[in-house]
Amino acid sequence: MSDWVKAKVTGKHAWTDGLYSMQFEGPVADFKAGQYIKVALDIEGDRVGRPYSLVNPPQERPVEIYFNEVPEGPLTPRLSDLNPGDEVWLSEKPGGIFTLETVESAETLWLLATGTALGVYLSILRSPEPWDLFRRVVLVHGVRQATDLSYGETLAAIAQRHGDRFRFVPAVSRESVPGALSGRITDLLTAGSLEAHVGATIDPRSSHVMLCGNSAMIKDVKVILEERGLARHKRHAPGQYTTEQYH
Ligand SMILES: Cc1cc2nc3c(=O)[nH]c(=O)nc-3n(C[C@H](O)[C@H](O)[C@H](O)COP(=O)(O)OP(=O)(O)OC[C@H]3O[C@@H](n4cnc5c(N)ncnc54)[C@H](O)[C@@H]3O)c2cc1C
Ligand SMILES: NC(=O)c1ccc[n+]([C@@H]2O[C@H](COP(=O)([O-])OP(=O)(O)OC[C@H]3O[C@@H](n4cnc5c(N)ncnc54)[C@H](OP(=O)(O)O)[C@@H]3O)[C@@H](O)[C@H]2O)c1
Repeated sequence: MSDWVKAKVTGKHAWTDGLYSMQFEGPVADFKAGQYIKVALDIEGDRVGRPYSLVNPPQERPVEIYFNEVPEGPLTPRLSDLNPGDEVWLSEKPGGIFTLETVESAETLWLLATGTALGVYLSILRSPEPWDLFRRVVLVHGVRQATDLSYGETLAAIAQRHGDRFRFVPAVSRESVPGALSGRITDLLTAGSLEAHVGATIDPRSSHVMLCGNSAMIKDVKVILEERGLARHKRHAPGQYTTEQYH
Protein backbone atom coordinates (compact mmCIF):
# COMPACT_ATOMS: atom_id res chain seq x y z
CA MET A 1 0.00 0.00 0.00
CA SER A 2 1.24 3.47 -0.84
CA ASP A 3 1.54 6.15 1.81
CA TRP A 4 -0.04 9.08 0.04
CA VAL A 5 1.01 12.68 0.60
CA LYS A 6 -0.82 15.77 -0.61
CA ALA A 7 0.91 17.82 -3.29
CA LYS A 8 0.13 20.83 -5.47
CA VAL A 9 0.57 21.21 -9.19
CA THR A 10 3.12 24.00 -9.64
CA GLY A 11 3.75 23.78 -13.37
CA LYS A 12 2.29 22.33 -16.55
CA HIS A 13 3.53 22.32 -20.12
CA ALA A 14 1.72 20.93 -23.16
CA TRP A 15 4.32 19.89 -25.76
CA THR A 16 1.72 18.95 -28.33
CA ASP A 17 -1.86 17.72 -28.30
CA GLY A 18 -2.09 15.15 -25.47
CA LEU A 19 1.57 15.25 -24.39
CA TYR A 20 2.39 16.97 -21.09
CA SER A 21 5.01 17.68 -18.44
CA MET A 22 3.72 18.45 -14.97
CA GLN A 23 5.50 19.62 -11.83
CA PHE A 24 4.45 19.09 -8.22
CA GLU A 25 5.47 20.54 -4.87
CA GLY A 26 5.02 17.98 -2.07
CA PRO A 27 6.88 16.07 0.67
CA VAL A 28 8.23 13.22 -1.51
CA ALA A 29 11.18 11.26 -0.04
CA ASP A 30 14.64 11.13 -1.64
CA PHE A 31 14.98 8.97 -4.74
CA LYS A 32 17.53 7.53 -7.15
CA ALA A 33 17.65 8.56 -10.80
CA GLY A 34 15.52 6.03 -12.70
CA GLN A 35 12.83 5.63 -10.05
CA TYR A 36 9.14 6.53 -10.24
CA ILE A 37 6.41 7.92 -8.02
CA LYS A 38 2.71 7.22 -8.09
CA VAL A 39 0.36 10.08 -8.88
CA ALA A 40 -3.28 9.74 -7.83
CA LEU A 41 -6.61 11.54 -7.96
CA ASP A 42 -9.80 10.71 -6.09
CA ILE A 43 -12.28 9.84 -8.82
CA GLU A 44 -15.87 8.97 -7.94
CA GLY A 45 -14.90 7.81 -4.46
CA ASP A 46 -11.83 5.77 -5.53
CA ARG A 47 -8.20 6.80 -5.35
CA VAL A 48 -6.85 6.12 -8.84
CA GLY A 49 -3.03 6.09 -8.88
CA ARG A 50 -0.52 5.29 -11.62
CA PRO A 51 3.31 5.13 -11.66
CA TYR A 52 5.30 7.86 -13.45
CA SER A 53 9.08 8.08 -13.83
CA LEU A 54 10.64 11.13 -12.27
CA VAL A 55 12.14 13.48 -14.85
CA ASN A 56 13.93 15.80 -12.43
CA PRO A 57 17.35 14.66 -11.17
CA PRO A 58 17.46 13.52 -7.50
CA GLN A 59 19.12 16.72 -6.31
CA GLU A 60 16.46 19.02 -7.83
CA ARG A 61 12.88 19.92 -6.95
CA PRO A 62 10.02 20.28 -7.89
CA VAL A 63 9.28 16.69 -8.90
CA GLU A 64 8.34 16.42 -12.56
CA ILE A 65 6.57 13.82 -14.70
CA TYR A 66 6.15 13.52 -18.47
CA PHE A 67 3.05 11.73 -19.76
CA ASN A 68 0.71 11.30 -22.67
CA GLU A 69 -3.03 11.21 -22.41
CA VAL A 70 -4.69 7.83 -23.00
CA PRO A 71 -8.18 9.05 -24.00
CA GLU A 72 -9.99 6.01 -22.55
CA GLY A 73 -7.67 5.78 -19.50
CA PRO A 74 -9.06 6.36 -15.99
CA LEU A 75 -6.35 8.79 -14.84
CA THR A 76 -4.62 10.64 -17.68
CA PRO A 77 -7.58 12.61 -19.12
CA ARG A 78 -8.21 14.01 -15.63
CA LEU A 79 -4.54 14.53 -14.88
CA SER A 80 -4.08 16.55 -18.04
CA ASP A 81 -7.01 18.79 -17.03
CA LEU A 82 -5.21 19.93 -13.85
CA ASN A 83 -3.64 23.37 -13.59
CA PRO A 84 -1.18 25.07 -11.21
CA GLY A 85 -2.72 25.29 -7.72
CA ASP A 86 -4.75 22.05 -8.08
CA GLU A 87 -4.14 19.22 -5.59
CA VAL A 88 -3.00 15.64 -6.28
CA TRP A 89 -1.83 12.71 -4.20
CA LEU A 90 1.72 11.44 -4.59
CA SER A 91 3.25 8.28 -3.15
CA GLU A 92 5.61 9.44 -0.45
CA LYS A 93 8.30 6.89 -1.30
CA PRO A 94 9.58 6.58 -4.87
CA GLY A 95 10.09 3.01 -6.09
CA GLY A 96 11.63 0.94 -8.86
CA ILE A 97 14.93 -0.70 -9.76
CA PHE A 98 15.48 0.86 -13.22
CA THR A 99 18.63 2.55 -11.96
CA LEU A 100 22.38 2.29 -12.56
CA GLU A 101 22.95 1.32 -8.91
CA THR A 102 24.36 -2.19 -9.51
CA VAL A 103 25.32 -1.83 -13.18
CA GLU A 104 28.96 -2.50 -14.07
CA SER A 105 31.19 0.04 -15.77
CA ALA A 106 31.63 -0.24 -19.57
CA GLU A 107 32.52 1.79 -22.66
CA THR A 108 29.05 2.86 -23.85
CA LEU A 109 25.67 3.24 -22.18
CA TRP A 110 22.79 2.99 -24.66
CA LEU A 111 19.52 4.52 -23.45
CA LEU A 112 16.61 3.48 -25.71
CA ALA A 113 13.23 5.19 -25.22
CA THR A 114 9.89 5.21 -26.98
CA GLY A 115 7.53 8.14 -26.36
CA THR A 116 7.37 9.46 -22.81
CA ALA A 117 10.11 7.06 -21.63
CA LEU A 118 12.49 9.86 -22.60
CA GLY A 119 11.72 11.38 -19.18
CA VAL A 120 13.40 8.75 -17.03
CA TYR A 121 16.65 9.22 -18.94
CA LEU A 122 16.60 12.98 -18.40
CA SER A 123 16.84 12.27 -14.67
CA ILE A 124 19.59 9.66 -15.13
CA LEU A 125 21.57 11.91 -17.52
CA ARG A 126 21.51 14.77 -14.99
CA SER A 127 22.86 12.53 -12.20
CA PRO A 128 26.58 11.61 -11.83
CA GLU A 129 26.21 7.82 -12.28
CA PRO A 130 26.27 7.46 -16.09
CA TRP A 131 29.26 9.75 -16.38
CA ASP A 132 31.14 7.90 -13.60
CA LEU A 133 30.44 4.46 -15.10
CA PHE A 134 30.64 4.98 -18.88
CA ARG A 135 32.96 6.74 -21.29
CA ARG A 136 30.05 7.74 -23.48
CA VAL A 137 26.27 7.76 -23.42
CA VAL A 138 23.94 7.43 -26.43
CA LEU A 139 20.29 8.41 -25.99
CA VAL A 140 17.84 7.23 -28.67
CA HIS A 141 14.32 8.71 -28.63
CA GLY A 142 11.87 6.76 -30.80
CA VAL A 143 8.69 8.67 -31.65
CA ARG A 144 5.96 8.57 -34.26
CA GLN A 145 6.22 12.17 -35.46
CA ALA A 146 8.58 15.13 -35.13
CA THR A 147 6.03 16.94 -32.93
CA ASP A 148 6.49 14.17 -30.32
CA LEU A 149 10.16 15.19 -29.86
CA SER A 150 10.42 17.32 -26.74
CA TYR A 151 12.75 18.64 -23.99
CA GLY A 152 15.06 20.17 -26.61
CA GLU A 153 16.52 22.73 -24.17
CA THR A 154 17.24 20.10 -21.51
CA LEU A 155 18.94 17.89 -24.08
CA ALA A 156 20.99 20.82 -25.37
CA ALA A 157 22.14 21.60 -21.81
CA ILE A 158 23.20 17.96 -21.27
CA ALA A 159 25.06 18.03 -24.61
CA GLN A 160 26.79 21.27 -23.70
CA ARG A 161 27.87 19.90 -20.32
CA HIS A 162 29.21 16.55 -21.58
CA GLY A 163 30.46 17.38 -25.09
CA ASP A 164 31.32 14.37 -27.26
CA ARG A 165 30.67 11.95 -24.39
CA PHE A 166 26.94 12.44 -25.12
CA ARG A 167 25.07 11.65 -28.31
CA PHE A 168 21.34 12.24 -28.82
CA VAL A 169 19.66 10.35 -31.68
CA PRO A 170 16.02 11.12 -32.49
CA ALA A 171 14.32 8.32 -34.46
CA VAL A 172 11.02 9.21 -36.13
CA SER A 173 8.93 6.36 -37.53
CA ARG A 174 6.01 7.97 -39.39
CA GLU A 175 7.61 10.81 -41.31
CA SER A 176 10.97 11.81 -42.69
CA VAL A 177 12.59 14.52 -40.56
CA PRO A 178 15.93 16.26 -41.24
CA GLY A 179 18.45 15.43 -38.49
CA ALA A 180 16.56 12.34 -37.30
CA LEU A 181 16.90 8.68 -38.22
CA SER A 182 13.82 7.27 -39.97
CA GLY A 183 12.13 4.15 -38.59
CA ARG A 184 11.56 2.14 -35.46
CA ILE A 185 14.39 1.48 -33.01
CA THR A 186 14.09 -2.27 -33.71
CA ASP A 187 14.51 -1.82 -37.47
CA LEU A 188 17.43 0.59 -37.00
CA LEU A 189 19.15 -2.01 -34.81
CA THR A 190 18.51 -4.89 -37.19
CA ALA A 191 19.74 -2.90 -40.18
CA GLY A 192 22.82 -1.72 -38.28
CA SER A 193 22.00 1.89 -39.15
CA LEU A 194 21.80 3.12 -35.54
CA GLU A 195 25.26 1.85 -34.70
CA ALA A 196 26.69 3.07 -38.03
CA HIS A 197 25.22 6.52 -37.32
CA VAL A 198 26.76 6.64 -33.84
CA GLY A 199 30.04 4.92 -34.74
CA ALA A 200 29.84 2.29 -31.98
CA THR A 201 28.61 -1.28 -31.71
CA ILE A 202 26.31 -2.87 -29.17
CA ASP A 203 28.06 -5.95 -27.83
CA PRO A 204 28.41 -7.61 -24.41
CA ARG A 205 32.00 -6.47 -23.92
CA SER A 206 31.53 -2.73 -24.47
CA SER A 207 27.89 -1.94 -23.76
CA HIS A 208 25.08 -1.65 -21.28
CA VAL A 209 21.60 -1.04 -22.74
CA MET A 210 18.59 0.40 -20.92
CA LEU A 211 15.17 -0.11 -22.59
CA CYS A 212 12.10 1.84 -21.53
CA GLY A 213 8.60 2.46 -22.86
CA ASN A 214 6.48 0.39 -25.24
CA SER A 215 6.43 -3.30 -24.21
CA ALA A 216 6.45 -4.55 -27.81
CA MET A 217 9.63 -2.56 -28.51
CA ILE A 218 11.24 -3.94 -25.36
CA LYS A 219 10.29 -7.52 -26.23
CA ASP A 220 11.70 -7.26 -29.75
CA VAL A 221 14.89 -5.46 -28.74
CA LYS A 222 15.53 -8.07 -26.03
CA VAL A 223 15.58 -10.76 -28.73
CA ILE A 224 18.05 -8.72 -30.81
CA LEU A 225 20.31 -8.14 -27.78
CA GLU A 226 20.25 -11.75 -26.63
CA GLU A 227 21.14 -12.94 -30.14
CA ARG A 228 24.24 -10.77 -29.75
CA GLY A 229 25.12 -12.34 -26.39
CA LEU A 230 23.84 -9.64 -24.01
CA ALA A 231 22.02 -10.91 -20.89
CA ARG A 232 19.45 -9.29 -18.61
CA HIS A 233 21.10 -7.50 -15.70
CA LYS A 234 20.19 -8.77 -12.25
CA ARG A 235 21.32 -7.41 -8.94
CA HIS A 236 23.26 -10.62 -8.11
CA ALA A 237 24.04 -11.68 -11.69
CA PRO A 238 25.42 -8.74 -13.64
CA GLY A 239 24.23 -8.54 -17.24
CA GLN A 240 24.22 -5.99 -20.04
CA TYR A 241 20.63 -4.82 -20.37
CA THR A 242 17.87 -3.53 -18.08
CA THR A 243 14.22 -2.83 -18.88
CA GLU A 244 11.20 -0.87 -17.68
CA GLN A 245 7.84 -1.32 -19.36
CA TYR A 246 5.24 1.50 -19.35
CA HIS A 247 2.46 -0.09 -21.42
C1 LIG B 1 6.93 1.68 -13.72
C2 LIG B 1 6.05 2.48 -14.64
C3 LIG B 1 6.41 3.80 -14.94
C4 LIG B 1 5.62 4.56 -15.81
N1 LIG B 1 6.01 5.82 -16.12
C5 LIG B 1 5.31 6.52 -17.04
C6 LIG B 1 5.76 7.81 -17.45
O1 LIG B 1 6.76 8.34 -16.95
N2 LIG B 1 5.02 8.47 -18.38
C7 LIG B 1 3.89 7.90 -18.94
O2 LIG B 1 3.28 8.54 -19.82
N3 LIG B 1 3.44 6.70 -18.56
C8 LIG B 1 4.11 6.01 -17.61
N4 LIG B 1 3.64 4.79 -17.21
C9 LIG B 1 2.27 4.40 -17.62
C10 LIG B 1 1.28 5.04 -16.60
O3 LIG B 1 1.46 4.49 -15.31
C11 LIG B 1 -0.21 4.89 -16.98
O4 LIG B 1 -0.49 3.55 -17.27
C12 LIG B 1 -0.60 5.77 -18.15
O5 LIG B 1 -0.32 7.14 -17.87
C13 LIG B 1 -2.11 5.65 -18.49
O6 LIG B 1 -2.88 5.87 -17.32
P1 LIG B 1 -4.46 5.77 -17.39
O7 LIG B 1 -4.97 5.59 -16.00
O8 LIG B 1 -5.01 6.91 -18.16
O9 LIG B 1 -4.73 4.42 -18.20
P2 LIG B 1 -4.37 2.93 -17.74
O10 LIG B 1 -5.56 2.31 -17.07
O11 LIG B 1 -3.10 2.91 -16.95
O12 LIG B 1 -4.14 2.26 -19.12
C14 LIG B 1 -5.20 2.12 -20.08
C15 LIG B 1 -4.65 1.40 -21.28
O13 LIG B 1 -3.68 2.23 -21.93
C16 LIG B 1 -2.42 1.58 -22.04
N5 LIG B 1 -1.37 2.58 -21.80
C17 LIG B 1 -0.77 2.90 -20.62
N6 LIG B 1 0.14 3.88 -20.80
C18 LIG B 1 0.08 4.19 -22.11
C19 LIG B 1 0.76 5.11 -22.90
N7 LIG B 1 1.70 5.92 -22.38
N8 LIG B 1 0.45 5.16 -24.21
C20 LIG B 1 -0.50 4.34 -24.73
N9 LIG B 1 -1.15 3.44 -24.04
C21 LIG B 1 -0.88 3.37 -22.75
C22 LIG B 1 -2.45 0.49 -20.97
O14 LIG B 1 -1.59 -0.58 -21.35
C23 LIG B 1 -3.88 0.09 -20.95
O15 LIG B 1 -4.18 -0.83 -21.97
C24 LIG B 1 4.42 4.01 -16.36
C25 LIG B 1 4.05 2.69 -16.03
C26 LIG B 1 4.85 1.94 -15.20
C27 LIG B 1 4.45 0.52 -14.90
N1 LIG C 1 3.09 12.59 -28.65
C1 LIG C 1 2.74 11.52 -27.98
O1 LIG C 1 3.59 10.76 -27.55
C2 LIG C 1 1.28 11.31 -27.80
C3 LIG C 1 0.46 12.38 -27.60
C4 LIG C 1 -0.89 12.16 -27.39
C5 LIG C 1 -1.41 10.88 -27.43
N2 LIG C 1 -0.55 9.84 -27.67
C6 LIG C 1 -1.11 8.51 -27.74
O2 LIG C 1 -0.40 7.66 -26.86
C7 LIG C 1 -0.28 6.37 -27.41
C8 LIG C 1 1.17 5.98 -27.44
O3 LIG C 1 1.83 6.78 -28.43
P1 LIG C 1 3.37 7.05 -28.44
O4 LIG C 1 3.68 7.66 -29.74
O5 LIG C 1 3.79 7.77 -27.21
O6 LIG C 1 4.01 5.60 -28.27
P2 LIG C 1 4.23 4.35 -29.21
O7 LIG C 1 3.01 3.89 -29.90
O8 LIG C 1 4.91 3.40 -28.31
O9 LIG C 1 5.23 4.89 -30.35
C9 LIG C 1 6.49 5.42 -30.07
C10 LIG C 1 7.51 4.82 -31.01
O10 LIG C 1 7.64 3.43 -30.73
C11 LIG C 1 7.51 2.73 -31.96
N3 LIG C 1 7.06 1.35 -31.75
C12 LIG C 1 5.81 0.92 -31.53
N4 LIG C 1 5.80 -0.43 -31.43
C13 LIG C 1 7.08 -0.83 -31.60
C14 LIG C 1 7.72 -2.09 -31.63
N5 LIG C 1 7.04 -3.23 -31.48
N6 LIG C 1 9.04 -2.12 -31.82
C15 LIG C 1 9.72 -1.00 -32.01
N7 LIG C 1 9.20 0.22 -32.01
C16 LIG C 1 7.87 0.31 -31.81
C17 LIG C 1 6.57 3.54 -32.78
O11 LIG C 1 6.69 3.17 -34.13
P3 LIG C 1 5.40 3.16 -35.14
O12 LIG C 1 5.16 4.59 -35.51
O13 LIG C 1 5.86 2.31 -36.28
O14 LIG C 1 4.24 2.57 -34.39
C18 LIG C 1 7.09 4.93 -32.48
O15 LIG C 1 8.25 5.19 -33.23
C19 LIG C 1 -0.96 6.42 -28.77
O16 LIG C 1 -2.29 5.96 -28.64
C20 LIG C 1 -0.93 7.88 -29.11
O17 LIG C 1 -1.96 8.27 -29.98
C21 LIG C 1 0.77 10.03 -27.86
